[in-house]
Amino acid sequence: MHFDEIMERLGRVVNTPVKPIPEEALQKEREIFYKKHAKSLELFEEAKNYIPGGVEHNLATTKPFPLAMDRAKGYRMWDVDGNEYVDYLLCGAPIILGHHYDPLDNEVIKTIKEKGPSTGLTSEFEILAAKKICEHMPSVERVRFLQSGTEADMAALRIARAYTGRNKVVKVEGSYHGWYDTYVMNLHIPGTGGLNSKGIPPSAYEHLLEVKPNDFEGLEKIFKEYGDDIACMVLEPVGGESGVHPVHPDWNKRCRELCTDHGALLIFDEVVTGFRLDMGGAQKYFGINPDLTVLGKIVAHGYPSAGAVAGKAEIMDICGESMGNKPYLGGTLAANPITCCACYHAIRLIEETDAVAKSTAFADRLVSELNQLFATRPDLPFFLYNFGPIIHYVTTGFFAVDITGPQAMEVFRRKDVAEEYQMVASNQGINSLAGTRMYTCLQHDEEALQRTLAAWEYILSLIPKA
Ligand SMILES: Cc1ncc(COP(=O)(O)O)c(C=O)c1O
Repeated sequence: MHFDEIMERLGRVVNTPVKPIPEEALQKEREIFYKKHAKSLELFEEAKNYIPGGVEHNLATTKPFPLAMDRAKGYRMWDVDGNEYVDYLLCGAPIILGHHYDPLDNEVIKTIKEKGPSTGLTSEFEILAAKKICEHMPSVERVRFLQSGTEADMAALRIARAYTGRNKVVKVEGSYHGWYDTYVMNLHIPGTGGLNSKGIPPSAYEHLLEVKPNDFEGLEKIFKEYGDDIACMVLEPVGGESGVHPVHPDWNKRCRELCTDHGALLIFDEVVTGFRLDMGGAQKYFGINPDLTVLGKIVAHGYPSAGAVAGKAEIMDICGESMGNKPYLGGTLAANPITCCACYHAIRLIEETDAVAKSTAFADRLVSELNQLFATRPDLPFFLYNFGPIIHYVTTGFFAVDITGPQAMEVFRRKDVAEEYQMVASNQGINSLAGTRMYTCLQHDEEALQRTLAAWEYILSLIPKA
């Protein structure tokens, strides 16, 4: 779907009053949820005694309580009560071959059995994995492995500052670059300011400059005013929160030009888009070369301890300089043989299976069929759009509400209603990300598609026609 149409339809969603499931039907669904997920509830209650809030993962905080998963295979996932799901969360993007993919698991198991988990020193897999990333990503000549996307985002900023000798960083409101101090501002929804900034000293934002999504004029002003002090601009190349705030077709290009003109580095945060949108990431998809690339969980296909900052040799090589000249970064378990084995073989297998093209074909079909289904309900403004195998579905559009305008307080109600739809989707065996996003993988098939359509037909049937 073209940018203009996405924006027009997002506008229609936020200007249409939300349509909740009536209380009586909702209560029945709640009862079903509690009944179907008794063991999950039991574990959640126990977890609260040992784990703050009862969950470790931001993505797991679903309503009315988080579900505990038992196992996953292909596109299927089973919770501890034995309920089966068509999974579109896929661990928050990294799984594109499918869960628990035997040819990959076998290689990792072999490495564990033959070599052990880690030595704290270099292994051959480290080089194989780095080489594979360089082979595919157009702007990447060097790779430094870290342990998470957050760490890689932190490292990219430090490298940019060390390389340019400047301090300021530009980021787009509503984007996510992990939980490092400087990046935790205007998270999720532009205009939310420091809502998530508890525990961060105001000085952490001293060098942060922010721009609203697709605000060309605002961006130009920032560069005009601070150009000589800007070390870098960091962005998610399909738009903040990886496309929830979709990117204007000219945005990345303009960011590239402004960075080049002012001697600042352009950083693409490809934690979601790398090896998913394209084997060469968003940079290949859009034909725009950043100076630095941030990769996260995607480089190990869901295996732990994964992240990397990568880029042009001229910039990255400062990380290999002698003490005093290099930006300090690292991690004892970074680049361990298990992670790097998973990285090398995952990329090899994604290539061999053509997983990106196949996941994209499934996503295109799912988006088209669900949009056709939603069109049967002209009283509801629901719609989907996708960037390859990254699907966004918009029901209440809480992410798109202008938090600085008169609708601000509506965000919470709209979020609640989206979560109610999501609870019903869970009852129907569909698992997605935050009630707004679906990732697809090589294994999603006709059965997955029909189950998803049936679930949404059911959800629609619970919402009275206007
Ligand atoms: C675009 C983006 N950047 C950074 C991160 C942080 O990665 P991690 O959770 O591995 O720290 C995420 C996590 O989802 C992300 O989506």
